[in-house]
Parts: sequence; C-alpha cells; structure tokens
Amino acid sequence: MRMQANTILITGGATGIGLALAESFLERGNEVIVCARTEEHLVHAKERLPRLQIRRCDLSKESERRDLHDWTISNFPEMNVLINNAGIQRVIDFKRGLADLDRHREVDEEDEIEINFRAYVQMAAAFVPDLIKQKEAAIVNVSSGLGFIPLTIMPVYCATKAAIHSFSLSLRHQLSDTPIKVFEIIPPTVDTELDKGARASRGQQDRGIAPGLVAKEALPRMEKDDYEIAIGRAGNIRAASGIDFDRIFANMNHN
Ligand SMILES: NC(=O)c1ccc[n+]([C@@H]2O[C@H](COP(=O)([O-])OP(=O)(O)OC[C@H]3O[C@@H](n4cnc5c(N)ncnc54)[C@H](OP(=O)(O)O)[C@@H]3O)[C@@H](O)[C@H]2O)c1
Repeated sequence: MRMQANTILITGGATGIGLALAESFLERGNEVIVCARTEEHLVHAKERLPRLQIRRCDLSKESERRDLHDWTISNFPEMNVLINNAGIQRVIDFKRGLADLDRHREVDEEDEIEINFRAYVQMAAAFVPDLIKQKEAAIVNVSSGLGFIPLTIMPVYCATKAAIHSFSLSLRHQLSDTPIKVFEIIPPTVDTELDKGARASRGQQDRGIAPGLVAKEALPRMEKDDYEIAIGRAGNIRAASGIDFDRIFANMNHN
C-alpha cells in the first residue's frame, strides 16, 4: 500500500491508537479525517494536529454511521482508506446475568457488539462501493491479541475482536480481485484510556506500549502489504493460536 497521497478516514481517531495512526499518516503527506463521539477529544486532537479534519459521530447509531459515510464521500470523494479503529472494552460478569450486560448497554449507552463489531461491518459495506472506484484503496481493521486468546473477564470484547479477525479474512478474500487491500492491525496491550481505568482498579501494573509504537510498526508493514500486522506480544498470541490454519483456510476457500 502506498504511504502518501491517501485520503484516510479513521474512526475513533481523536485519541489513543487512532490518533497515533493519524499523526503518522499526516507526517507522510496524507489527508486524514477522524471521527469520535466526544467533541472535546476532537477539539484536542485538532489543536495537536491542525491539519486534521474532524467529524463528530456516534458509531453505535446506524443513522450516524450512514451520515458519516455520506458526509465523507461528498466532502472527500477521493477518500481511499477506511481505518475501522473505534472501540470500547468492558468487564462483564455473566454470573450477574443481564444486569451486568445491560448496565453497559442501557445505562452507559455502550454496546460492545454495536461499536466493536457492527460498526466495522457496516462501515465496510457502506464504503466498499466507493473505495472500489479508486486506483488504490484499503480497509484497515484494528482487532486485538485478545481476539486470538481471550481474557475471560471481558468476554464480549474478546468475542468481537475474534469476529473482526474472521471478518477481515473473508473481506480480504472477497475483495482480492478489486483495488481494495484489507489489513488487520492486531495490537498488544497499549497504554490508552480504552478500559476507562479498569486496569488500574484491578491492580494491573503493565499499562502496555505507547500508542505511537503501534503506528511506528504498522505503517512500514502496511507499505510492504503485510496484511496481518500483529504488534509485539500480540504476535506470540497469534502464533500460538494458529497452528496449520493457513493450509486449512486455503483448502476450504479454493486458493
Ligand atoms: N489499548 C489497548 O490495549 C488495545 C489493545 C488491542 C486493541 N485495541 C483496540 O484499538 C482500538 C483503539 O483503542 P485505544 O486503545 O486507542 O482506546 P481509546 O483511546 O479509548 O480509543 C478508542 C476511540 O474509539 C472512540 N469511540 C468509542 N465509542 C465510539 C462511538 N460509539 N462512536 C464513535 N467513536 C467511538 C473513542 O472516541 P470518544 O471516546 O471520544 O467518543 C476513542 O477515541 C480499539 O478498537 C481497541 O479495541 C486496544
């Protein structure tokens, strides 16, 4: 994938890994648009990176996802890269039943399936017909090492990330005769606000690597068309889970 002269939309790109990717792509001479729910995060991101284009959008709402697509294509018809990155992570205790699950969905208005999975799928479906018209295009899905081996205190989060891995494989295969390359970035633990302080409150000392390191490793590997980019310790988790996977996948999918 070329690393300059792209027009890139990064969901959840006002903080953390998304912002680090935005900064690295801006430095390489790309146009970068980021969306997020929180106006304050968008304003801070714009102050830090004045060339950034910002757009408020709650990706948990289908109507807002559609509006984001329409706004992006009418303002940036040359857009050729979609980075599905926005995500949330919640600890859920199934022994407490629906009370714990619904606490996040209904009280906090945060539904991991909607944001971490359905939004990725719908954004891909909405943008593929536009991206396919570009000479070179890409969809980049940010999953997680926890999609390969789950951390069971966050069962829904890990399941959405496993789903994103499977979805990325199918999308890459389906789009292999188009100009759209499909990448998956698989981060290890990264020091961001993703968990809203849950790591600290359970005494986890390891805050993970800096978000900038994810971007530093991911971009050169994207340039080489390395489609599955497991960063740092996520590579060990990925390898441990994948014995003979490629041969079986190729047999099933007539490669
Ligand atoms: N941090 C890690 O250890 C780690 C490890 C592996 C994978 N990942 C993945 O990396 C991605 C980025 O996470 P991060 O670690 O960089 O955390 P982060 O800084 O909290 O970034 C997540 C972003 O998603 C946005 N977002 C959440 N819900 C949204 C919604 N409904 N609509 C629009 N935007 C929404 C947030 O924006 P606002 O809050 O401003 O609305 C935030 O900017 C996620 O997919 C995460 O699962 C992270």
